[in-house]
This record gives sequence, C-alpha cells and structure tokens, in this order.
Amino acid sequence: MDGTCLGFRDWKGVSIMCGIVGYFGKRNASEILVDGLRRMEYRGYDSAGVACLYDGQIGVVKNPGKIKALREKVDASELDILHKSTQGIGHTRWATHGLPNEINAHPHLDASGHFVMVHNGIIENYKQIKAGLAQQGIACVSDTDSEVLIQLIAYCYKDNLESAVSEALKKVKGTYGIVVMTDHEPGKLVAARCGSPIVIGLGKDETVIASDASAIIPHTRDAIYLEDFDMAVVTADGVQMFDLQHAPISREVTAMEWDEDAAEKGDYAHFMLKEIFEQPVAIRNAIRGRLDFDMGTAVLSGLDFSPRDAAQIGRVLVVGCGTSMHAGMVGEYAFEEMAGIPAEVEQAAEFRYRNPIVTPQDLVVAISQSGETADTLAAVREAKHKGAIVAGLCNVVGSTIARETGRGVYLHAGPEIGVASTKAFTCQVAVMLMMALKIARTRRLPRHEGEKLSRWIERLPDLVEKVLGENEAIKAVAQKYADHENAFFIGRGYLFPVALEGALKLKEISYIHAEGYHAAELKHGPIALLSENTPVVALLNNIPGKDKTLGNAEECKARKAPVITVVSEGDEGVADGFDDMIVIPDCPPCIAPIPTAVALQLLAYHIAAARGCEIDQPRNLAKSVTVE
Ligand code: M6R
Repeated sequence: MDGTCLGFRDWKGVSIMCGIVGYFGKRNASEILVDGLRRMEYRGYDSAGVACLYDGQIGVVKNPGKIKALREKVDASELDILHKSTQGIGHTRWATHGLPNEINAHPHLDASGHFVMVHNGIIENYKQIKAGLAQQGIACVSDTDSEVLIQLIAYCYKDNLESAVSEALKKVKGTYGIVVMTDHEPGKLVAARCGSPIVIGLGKDETVIASDASAIIPHTRDAIYLEDFDMAVVTADGVQMFDLQHAPISREVTAMEWDEDAAEKGDYAHFMLKEIFEQPVAIRNAIRGRLDFDMGTAVLSGLDFSPRDAAQIGRVLVVGCGTSMHAGMVGEYAFEEMAGIPAEVEQAAEFRYRNPIVTPQDLVVAISQSGETADTLAAVREAKHKGAIVAGLCNVVGSTIARETGRGVYLHAGPEIGVASTKAFTCQVAVMLMMALKIARTRRLPRHEGEKLSRWIERLPDLVEKVLGENEAIKAVAQKYADHENAFFIGRGYLFPVALEGALKLKEISYIHAEGYHAAELKHGPIALLSENTPVVALLNNIPGKDKTLGNAEECKARKAPVITVVSEGDEGVADGFDDMIVIPDCPPCIAPIPTAVALQLLAYHIAAARGCEIDQPRNLAKSVTVE
C-alpha cells in the first residue's frame, strides 16, 4: 500500500451536484435524511441512498432514480434499523465514475460491512489506492472513486474513527466532502472537507450535517461551515473540530439567514417561476439600507474600504461565469460611465489561466451566486496572489468565495433553487450599480447625480413589479414561438449583456439554440442564418443606440425573420411593422437591464413550459459548476 501523502492541498474543484446529509439526534434518522435529500434534489442527481446505524448494526438502502423511489424503498424495508435509528447518512449521486446504478450509489460500505461513508468530490488517485488495497486482499465492488476511500478508512482503523479518517485522508489526492460512521463506535459521525462544502447545523439535541444549507434550515439556523482540511466529530456530547493532524481547532458558529419557506416551491409550477416573481422582494432586500440619498451614494460596509481607498482604485476587473459574468458586464459599463474608471469583465476560467496583469491598484470583483464556482474561485486566488484588492459578490452566505475574499457584498436574494439563475442576476446587477455609485461618488459623480441614480435604484422593485404584470402578455408571445429551434437576441450598450443573458436563459431551459449578439455584430456573420424560422428578439428600449438597433431589426425583418421587440412604455411606435412587442417601463440606460432581463426570463420560462421541458433541472446542467 502506498503510504505517502499525495499533495492533497492541490485544490482542483469538485462537482457538488451530489448532495450529502447526515443526522445525529433523537428523531427517526431515515425520515430526516430522505427529506434532506429531497430538498437538495434541485442540484441534479441520478441515484440516492441512506445508511442508518441502530443497535450496533448498519442498514443501507439505495436506488438509481428519484428520491420518491428511495422513500418508498425505505418505507417498505423490513430492516428495523431504518425505522428505529436516530443516526445516519444519506446521499444523492450525479454519476462521474461508473454508471448510475445501485452498486455505484452511495452510501458505500467497506468490505467488512462495518464502515459506511457518503462522499462528494473526486478521489484523483483512486486507481493507485485501489491497487494498494488489492495487494492487501481488499476488493472494491463498485466502479466509483469514492468506494476506495471508505475501504482505506477501514484499513487505517485501529480503535478510533477520526484517527482512521485523518490517516486515510492524508493519502488522498483530490477533493472531498465526507461523512462516515462505523458500528464499532455507535453514537459518532465524522465529517471532513477539502474543496467540497460541508455545513454542520447545530439543533437542540440534534446535529444535521449537509453539503447544502437547504437540508439544514428546516432544523436549525446555527451552523458551522467547515474549512478545507477540517474534520468534525459529532457525538452525544456535541461537535468537536479537529484539523487533519487530529489537533483540536475552533470554528465560529454562524446564523444561517434563509428561512424554510424560501426553499419551497409553494403554489408555483416551478422554482424558476417562483424566483422570477420573487424579484421585487429580492431586489428590495439587496438594496435595503444600502442607499444614502443625502450623499447620493451607496453604503456597502462589507467592501471594507474608505472613500480614500476607493479613490485609489485604478481599475476594476470583474470575474465570473455564465449569468454572473453577464451581470459583471453590466457592472463594467456602470463603472466606466459613472466612475470614469477603467473596467473589464472576464470569463473567470480565462482569467485564471492567461497569467493576467494585475496590480495592487486593481479591484477584482468576483461574482458568483453560489460562491462555489471552481473557475471563479481560482480567479480569486490568482488575483489575491497578485496583490489585488479582491471583493466577492455572492448570494450564498458562508460560501467559499465569500470566505476567501473576506470582503464583499451579499445579495440577500434568498435561496435560488432553479438551475437557471434569475433573481440572482437582477440582484447582482443592482449591487453592481451600487458599487459603481459608491466608487463614482469618490470621483467625478456629483451628489445630485448620485441622488438621482439612488432614487432609480430604489424604484427597481416597482419597475420589476410592472414587468411581472405583463406575464400573461409575454406568455402569449412565448406560445407563438415555442416550436422554433433557433433564436437570436440583439442589443446594444447596457442591453448587450442582457441580450446574452436572454439567449442563455432560453437555451438552458428550452433547449432551443439561442444566441445573443451585439446588434452591430449581426452583419459580421450571423445574419447569414436568418430566415422565417429564426425569430430575433430585438432590445429596442429607449436608450442611446436604440435607432441603430432599430435599423438592425429592420435588416432581420428584410430577411423574413420574425422580430419580437422589447420597447419602452410610451415608445411603442418603434414596434410598428414588427411581429410582436413586449413593453417594459421607461428608465435610464443603466437601470434598463433589470426590467428587460425579467421580461426575457418570463419569455424563456413560458417557451420552455410550452415545450414541456424540465425547467428546474434542465438536462446536463448543475446549479453549481465546481469542476473545470
Ligand atoms: O454560482 P455562480 O453564479 O458562480 O454560477 C455561474 C454560472 O454557472 C451560472 O450563472 C449559470 O450560467 C446559470 N445556470 C445560468 O442560468
């Protein structure tokens, strides 16, 4: 057996589409575990399982397919353990190594059947460990990388589970969030983390462990977020924290801010629709207490810089992926326009690998709803390494990016469950505008202009409410176009990122091939694709550049493409001669991305619904992309 430490500090990022839950307390463990797994369903998975420990024995039930089937299997099980146990672990697996079948599903038992574990992450040196185990006569039964870890833990076991876990983890290269138990030591769960989140919820007489806050919030708000290389030992005496050398450490208990209802669908058909409709409240929460009308500025104390610090920023670099990057693009325009400060936005993966030029005068803003996106996190580390001021803009409290940046702004948008990001985008844009305003006021933006902008930001929830009032009209437009297989979105200025975001929303939930372009770019190639089968959504809001985009929309029409226009209230005339029209409130250019994006979210939603798509869990997509 290879006994060397294989450089496990080499963080690579891990898929946390999988979900982990653990329970230790006085209530029926299997019920709490299955319910916790149901709450994490949105992450995407293809098999699930639970293991419970009772009367010195371990019972495991697992199943390919949905949680509902697992629940039925648990209910029907003749194993007393599952109905009487008050201690257990559960998992939803999204297959990486091996098919999504029962053998590969978690929890995994070791060969003796005395140790059981759930694992998120990837054990990169699993083949090497597996070969070492085989030499010791220990055979793995599944195709997974995970199973080797529990076999290794069992192999390392002498008389103490946490010592065996720490021993085994020193031999592992890769990423993990794990929870382990053994019938040699009933009354104990051991959890550990490296690169894959683990949160420990501290309830009254019970402890709930999970990879995602949504499984914990029904039980408690007090939580400990494990850091990389932390190990937690849960017993009837409480939770003790150790490092991987098994030396005691202490970690702060923080209050989780999301309530239970926020993570439930309620009367809405989909989480995505619920989250679209939550936007007035979400934006209100994102801006609450952060606007100073007297000084015409924003108060963002989490940024932790004084006006003097702000005045010394030489450039803003925004990094993010997907929808978050689009929000960053709106921010780029706002920083340049309001603060007169050079700003750039970059796909985080590009930033991390192209050896970017970063100076101590640069403010690097990392935008991430989840706060766990691998490329954005790596960009944060690169920027910190190069001495920049690094701030996070995250929704998930206590997420890795929020903790590693140490300064930044939380969105307070509440949990976003739908894979397609909606309320996070509009809140990200609102926060970007406030950041730009704050920095702008330390520079050239006069107080009265700052106040005017603050008032517009304050009105955002009402503007969004108005767009939501157009839901039925937008649905009617959507139903006309649901059968198309291609679509284009065009816009300029502040609406260019919105065109990109509109196309992203449509493609990810409806599977229609949709592309967003700067309106001027159409003529440089994409126009060749236009025909009566390629609808074009033209963002013709009343902002600078509208007339030019109007010309581009005419060019589309001349190629027989149906054109859906988005126009400002009071300016409906621009839609004359086009096929369909969506009206949004008239507002300044930097404000327009938010109501416009909401209209495009509804359009995408209703098209996907008309096509019968799985809106909340689109194929192949994960809520958090924590692999490269
Ligand atoms: O959690 P993050 O904001 O870092 O996620 C970034 C992207 O993966 C995410 O925005 C993705 O593009 C969404 N599915 C878009 O709806």
